[in-house]
This record gives sequence, C-alpha cells and structure tokens, in this order.
Amino acid sequence: MDKFVIRGGNPLLGTVRVSGAKNAALPAMAASILTEEPVILENIPDVRDIQTTRKLLEAMGGEVELGYGRAHHRTTLCMKNLVSPEASYDLVKTMRASTLVLGPLVARSGRARVSLPGGCAIGARPIDLHIKGLEQLGAKIAVEHGYVEASAERLQGGEVVFDRITVTGTEDLMMAAALADGETLMQNCAREPEVADLAALLNKMGARIEGAGTPTIRIKGVSRLKGAKHRIIPDRIEAGTFIVAGALTGGDLIIAGCEPRHLTFIKKLEEVGVKVKHDVDSVRVMGDGPLKGCDMVTEEFPGFPTDMQAQFMALATQAEGSSIITENIFENRFMHAGELVRMGANIKIEGRRAIVRGKTPLSAAAVLASDLRASASLVLAGLVADGETIIDRVYHIDRGYERIEEKLRAVGARMKRIGEMLPKRPALVGS
Ligand code: EPU
Repeated sequence: MDKFVIRGGNPLLGTVRVSGAKNAALPAMAASILTEEPVILENIPDVRDIQTTRKLLEAMGGEVELGYGRAHHRTTLCMKNLVSPEASYDLVKTMRASTLVLGPLVARSGRARVSLPGGCAIGARPIDLHIKGLEQLGAKIAVEHGYVEASAERLQGGEVVFDRITVTGTEDLMMAAALADGETLMQNCAREPEVADLAALLNKMGARIEGAGTPTIRIKGVSRLKGAKHRIIPDRIEAGTFIVAGALTGGDLIIAGCEPRHLTFIKKLEEVGVKVKHDVDSVRVMGDGPLKGCDMVTEEFPGFPTDMQAQFMALATQAEGSSIITENIFENRFMHAGELVRMGANIKIEGRRAIVRGKTPLSAAAVLASDLRASASLVLAGLVADGETIIDRVYHIDRGYERIEEKLRAVGARMKRIGEMLPKRPALVGS
C-alpha cells in the first residue's frame, strides 16, 4: 500500500494546474448510458474513482476508449451494447457514486440492478431520495438481497420534491427524467456547479433541461438522446486544497485552470486572513499575512462545501484564536481531527462541532488517511509540520486527486510516494 512521505517547511511557489472535477466527471460518464452513440468527455481527471467508473461501464457492455499523449484526459464512451444493466457490490462498495447509474439504466433499458452502497467512513449516506424520486417517475422498485431492483416500461414525467438537498440524487433524477415521457418538475434541487455541468452535457445530447444550478429544475422528456462532446469543469475542491496549501506554507502560488466563480468558499478563507487575487481562470494566493481563527459551517452550494471542511480544519490549526467548525452535511466527517491532534493540533469534537484552538506548531507523525478529503488535510498539515510526516492509506487520496504529490513537488513541496505506484494505464485502447 502506498504512503506519502512529506518533509514540511517549504513555501509553495509557482504555478499548479487544476484537473477536471471528479464529481462532475462521474455523472457525465453515467450519462453516456442514456444513448447508443459515443459521448466524448474532455478534461477527465486521471483518478481512481474514474477508473472504477470505467470498469463499471465496461462490465455493462460499454466500450471505453482513452486518449493518449496530449489527449490523455479525453475519454470516449459508447454504451451501444448495454448487455447488463447492473452495478455489482464489488464495484459499488469502493465508490458510492456508482449509484449514479441507477436513473440512467432504468431510463434507457427499463430495468436496473444496482447494489446498495451501505455506509462509509463519513456517514450512513442512504440513497432513499434517489429511490423515492424514481418511484415518482413511475419506476417499480424493490430492495432485495442488498440490491436495488428497478423497472419501468417507460418512465413518466412527474413532480419530485427532494426532502433534503442531494447532489447525486439531483443528478440521478435529472438523467432519468431526460428520457421520461412528459415533463418533470424537480424542487429543492442541489445547486452545485457539477449539477449544472451535467445539465449542459445532457442538453448537448438533446435533452431539454432548464434551471440546473437553481433549486427548481424543469425537464421536458425526449424519446432519444444522441452522442455529444463535452469538457468537464475544473475541480473546485482541488483548487481550494491548493489555495489552503499556498496560504499555510507562506507561499506565493498561482492556481491555474480553475473557475473562480465556483470558488464561493474563498470569502471564508479570506476571513481567516488568506490573501487571494482572482483572474479570469486562475487565482493567486499569497501566504504572507497572519491567520486568525474564524467559525465555519458546512452547507450546500453556494455555502462552504463539506468537501473543504477537513482542509479548513488544517488551516485553522495554524490560525491565532479559536475556530468552531460545524459539519452539517455528513454526520461523521471529523476522522482527520484525531490525526491532526496527533500532530500537535488542539481540537475538541462535540457532536457535529469541532473546536480548533490555534495556533499550535505541528510536528511530523505517522498518520492514517481515513477518507478522501481527510487525507488532503493530512497532506496540508504535513506541508507545515516540523520533520517527516508519513501518511498511510493514500489510496483514499488517489480516489480524487490526480498525482497530488507530483503537482505539489513541482511547486516546491518535499513530498514523495513510497510503495507500489498507481497501476499503469492499460496499453491497449479500450482494454
Ligand atoms: N442523503 C440522504 N438520502 C439520499 C441522499 C442523500 O439522506 O438519498 C443525505 C446524505 O446522507 C447526506 C446529505 O443527504 O447527509 C447530502 O448528501 P448528498 O446526496 O448531497 O451527497 P452525495 O451526492 O452522495 C456528493 C459528492 C460528495 C460531497 C456531497 C456533498 C459526488 C460523487 N459526491 O455526494 O463528494 O461530499 O455531494 O456535497 O458528487 C468527495 O468528493 O469527497 C465527496 C464525498
């Protein structure tokens, strides 16, 4: 199993480039199920969750072609031969976003068999809202032997009011409704940029979706969708992670290839004292000022993202004064706190709140990554810790960050991967 070894203390200087957004790429790949024609996706990040999704689509009979050389981030998906509308437990257990295939499968083939994902490190994460929404579109659903079995001759447009805002739930239903008979009105939808990006792809495929990115989405169902070419939006969470890295290390870092309009959390980072300058498609972070503690609450977009909470906590350990961090989205997303404490942070957890008292010097330790964003916060802590931090189980970070050690090393971090390398890309196209 790979580990990261990080020797802290170097300021990050130069330019780091952001990859495509994992959480936009995953639903875009699932959307390819909706058509027999090829869907060409550009700016697909080379991360493990994407590899898992490729396997999932191939297991259904899909053809996957990867770009090479300068087209390295292009993936062409063709689901013409959809022979098995099924997502097995083996794949779903490693990536909850596999449930994104549920809606597209029922819409395209009239049936789906998708493993229930079960809980994960950050919370119970049920999929009841996906199921309820599909039932409102006329699907018959049974949950048996750990699988969701859904069927529908043809989905019927209807009204879906989400009891709670769900990102992949909104995406799943939007894909299903795109091929339903008649009009669907969805209310209390997630407004994340990844939802709007998926709608943009679906509309290129011939869907008729309005309002994505707002709480109300209207979808006029069509009888068939066609192939399309689409460029995935930049990863706002990766950009945010680099902003925190620049600020924490007292660096001067340009984060290139991002979409500043999506970085709504920057306001909160500025409250902590992080200095950021915006450009059209980049931001520059100058880590030369003092940091001061401030309270933060995670919320749905455009609020502070839960996916940046762990990184914010690492920042708060280096800010003067106290910061109260409230996690509103997931019930168990403070696993990194214990590891940060082992590195010298002063953090107390009280239910959904974490109280961080800073500034405390961090000292290197052997720590364990528990989930994707928790691992990112340990990398950030390692960059400022005194001595050599060893982070175990970095497969969590490989799920969502593309070669983070290479990107950070190129801007001055002393960081290396030890152990087995990421598997090489397959030699044959489509294999
Ligand atoms: N929820 C339900 N029932 C449902 C669906 C969700 O109770 O049917 C609850 C969840 O348990 C959670 C809340 O609603 O408490 C919000 O969950 P949501 O459905 O929005 O999360 P998700 O769609 O499963 C996506 C991202 C996550 C990100 C969350 C919140 C993808 C592939 N995943 O998950 O990303 O944390 O939205 O913004 O888009 C990550 O990248 O590290 C990551 C975990």
